[in-house]
Amino acid sequence: MAFQVCVTRELPRPALDFLRSQVQSFRVNPEDRALTPSELAARIQGCDGVVCTLNDRIDASVLDAAPTVKVFANYAVGYNNIDVPEATRRKVAITNTPGVLTDATADLAWALLFAAARRVVEADAFMRRGRFKGWSPMLFLGSDITGRTLGIVGAGRIGTAVGLRAKAFRMRVLYASAARRSEALERETAAQRVALDELLRESDFISVHAPLTDRTFHLIGRPQIEQMKPGAILINTARGPIVDEDALVEALRSRRIAAAGLDVFEDEPAMKPGLADLPNVVVLPHIGSATIGTRTRMAMMAAENLLAVLRGHRPPNLVNPEILTA
Ligand code: DGY
Repeated sequence: MAFQVCVTRELPRPALDFLRSQVQSFRVNPEDRALTPSELAARIQGCDGVVCTLNDRIDASVLDAAPTVKVFANYAVGYNNIDVPEATRRKVAITNTPGVLTDATADLAWALLFAAARRVVEADAFMRRGRFKGWSPMLFLGSDITGRTLGIVGAGRIGTAVGLRAKAFRMRVLYASAARRSEALERETAAQRVALDELLRESDFISVHAPLTDRTFHLIGRPQIEQMKPGAILINTARGPIVDEDALVEALRSRRIAAAGLDVFEDEPAMKPGLADLPNVVVLPHIGSATIGTRTRMAMMAAENLLAVLRGHRPPNLVNPEILTA
């Protein structure tokens, strides 16, 4: 059969070459920017399958505008950009890319933790401005990491991988997970599953790894930040809206908590007013999975998911299996 496929952003070359070799008609957005909702709706007209990214809002209006599309293969593990119930109602398959980005994202969470705790970015800027005049006993004192308490909010694949790395630093690991127990975390690090309130009160470092849903929106809000230790450091590599960023700006400004490391933002790509002026936050442009190997594996996975649906097979990473029975 002649398949028509649309890819909404430039992706690693091996996956694009592979897809191009498998389908008859193939279109990639040539510009290095997200499509606007109306551009997206127009570009995917007549397509059978779409590889989309977390910047593409796939909602009822897009689904209605492109009724030929059988699959949206999201190039991300998170799929909060897609209205899954609406897709399911129309029997449109939604797929994601779990597993292949676990280690890269966990590594980046630790990079943020180290950078925030040891003030790496501030110290680097200080050097570049020529302000280093010699070793000083009180210069850039940060927070200890080894032996302290790490709280993981959401112990799925990535949360578990972050927690496992804490073993190397002889840390006590707590985790709060609505969905499931992490046996690996408990076995390898003697992690304790606790209620979120207890985790917030006890942890020196709190790392967020929950998916963004209606239930996790502002899961870390003002009352939760109030419960944290004064020296606490908050890391978010999951999704921005899980943390109330205005409340976080206030808490960082008043030193209610010590620092934060953020790879994701509530109104991404914008940052809330005042955030960028604070010295005690490290901010990154959503690069958790951004290694060459990881992004290539994600792209191949998205391509394979898409092709499976077009060929009438169950895709390996189907988010809405209800479409098979409904
Ligand atoms: C994801 O996959 O959900 C990340 O946020 C982007 O790689």
